[in-house]
Amino acid sequence: MTDNVQIPGYRLLRTLGEGGMATVYLAMQESLDREVALKVMSPVLAANATFCEQFMKEGRITAKLTHPHLMTVHDIGSDRGVYYLASEYLPAGTLRERMDRLSPSESLEIARDIASGLAYAHEKGFVHRDVKPGNIMFRSNGTAVLADFGIAKAMKSVSAATMAGNAIGTPDYMSPEQAQASPVDGRSDLYSLGAVLYECLAGQKPYRAPDAYAVALMHVTEPVPRLPEKLAWLQPLIDGLMAKNPEQRFATGEAFIAACDRLVQANPQAAASAQEQRSARRRAVSAGSSSATAISQPVPRITRARVLRLTAIGAGVIVLVGIGWLGWRSMQRPPAEQAVGTTAAAPERSDTSSAPSPPPITGDSAAKGALEKLDLPTLLARGDEYLAYGQKNYGEKLDFPAGENAIDMYQEALRRDPGNARAAKGLEQIAGFFEQAATGALRNGLYTATDEFIGKGLRADPKNAALLKLKADLAKAEQNG
Ligand SMILES: Nc1ncnc2c1ncn2[C@@H]1O[C@H](COP(=O)(O)OP(=O)(O)OP(=O)(O)O)[C@@H](O)[C@H]1O
Ligand SMILES: [Mg+2]
Repeated sequence: MTDNVQIPGYRLLRTLGEGGMATVYLAMQESLDREVALKVMSPVLAANATFCEQFMKEGRITAKLTHPHLMTVHDIGSDRGVYYLASEYLPAGTLRERMDRLSPSESLEIARDIASGLAYAHEKGFVHRDVKPGNIMFRSNGTAVLADFGIAKAMKSVSAATMAGNAIGTPDYMSPEQAQASPVDGRSDLYSLGAVLYECLAGQKPYRAPDAYAVALMHVTEPVPRLPEKLAWLQPLIDGLMAKNPEQRFATGEAFIAACDRLVQANPQAAASAQEQRSARRRAVSAGSSSATAISQPVPRITRARVLRLTAIGAGVIVLVGIGWLGWRSMQRPPAEQAVGTTAAAPERSDTSSAPSPPPITGDSAAKGALEKLDLPTLLARGDEYLAYGQKNYGEKLDFPAGENAIDMYQEALRRDPGNARAAKGLEQIAGFFEQAATGALRNGLYTATDEFIGKGLRADPKNAALLKLKADLAKAEQNG
């Protein structure tokens, strides 16, 4: 896959990984005869003048950030419309891959490392904006480093139209102020770091919901998540990082590190046992638990009902979140939907009474191509697997990510074998899942979320009577409301 990319001065050796908008290669920088990670941005970005300008500007500035816990940038440039960034090669993978194998003390160590890198960058006036497990990587000696400073800001400048159909991120670690598209400062990064630390310790994301929209909303409205009983002594750290109001968070990365030290000193026994402990999730897995999400009992599960019980306050906030999150969401939609996109300063909905069902989110041809390579039994098996996963995990994998979700699997199966009962049944069950979610959302006056869930359900089963009725109910409720 490295043959059609050529960057002068670099010899591409192999692909290291792919993100939403870039491919990262292991490359040899010929002038210095050293291995580097070469991040080559997607060509669609090059079409956007603001991105190009921001990428170079941010890159030049952030290349000046040198800190033991920030990824070192070596070079940035463009060649025939291809934008690239060469950085140190981090051979030991990302935090995402090792998240469920960490002991509490290892988790704390990583959070402290990243906080020190953030403290340095914040002091110089830089906000990362995309602190997440995929951007925390490891050197071969095990130290954690934060990658991609400056990239998120450049990406933010890209118009929704350019990004249509490309995944650009997740609201899982998003601060409340980011979800509301309010101005951010370093404390927003500390919030995201708190969400990452929470996931390392608790074995699950801070907020889980059937839909990314609801996740973004929960960052704004839901209480700070609680750690399992055994780790309750660390709760002050999560509280100090993830407070809704930035004023109530640790003011700096250093303040967080100092709080860590104080807590460890004040709880020597707990700290010692934290060093031994492996995460509850790992224990559950090694004990032969069948549930991938199994974790110790005391963690409060945020139920679907609870997500949907976001009432008066939620409805007020939704307008604010809509500005930020709907902008984010519109970037994920295929171009056909972009025409009714959401670049306005308030959430908009497409006309549910006359619009055809939204097209499946299989916009990118790569995802489609991959589906076409699967045989019918595999399509059905994957469809069943994603369906079971989604039913347990708040809708994840039912309709996203593109090409790797239950709807795409079943629809491709039906395209090959139009009478296939198993695929038809699967799609019916997905529609049923979203019908329940939409019913709850409607009951609580969350019209945008209702519309979203109905759209998802109809994508699975366009003629579903219950969903079509809900659509009419929604239109009525909006008229009256
Ligand atoms: N400096 C590096 N050294 C080694 N591997 C890297 C390096 N930078 C990135 N990678 C690999 O490439 C993958 C893609 O990175 P990229 O930054 O494009 O996406 P991401 O951060 O995972 O997600 P997103 O697109 O949402 O930012 C990473 O998950 C990682 O596996
Ligand atoms: Mg990255």
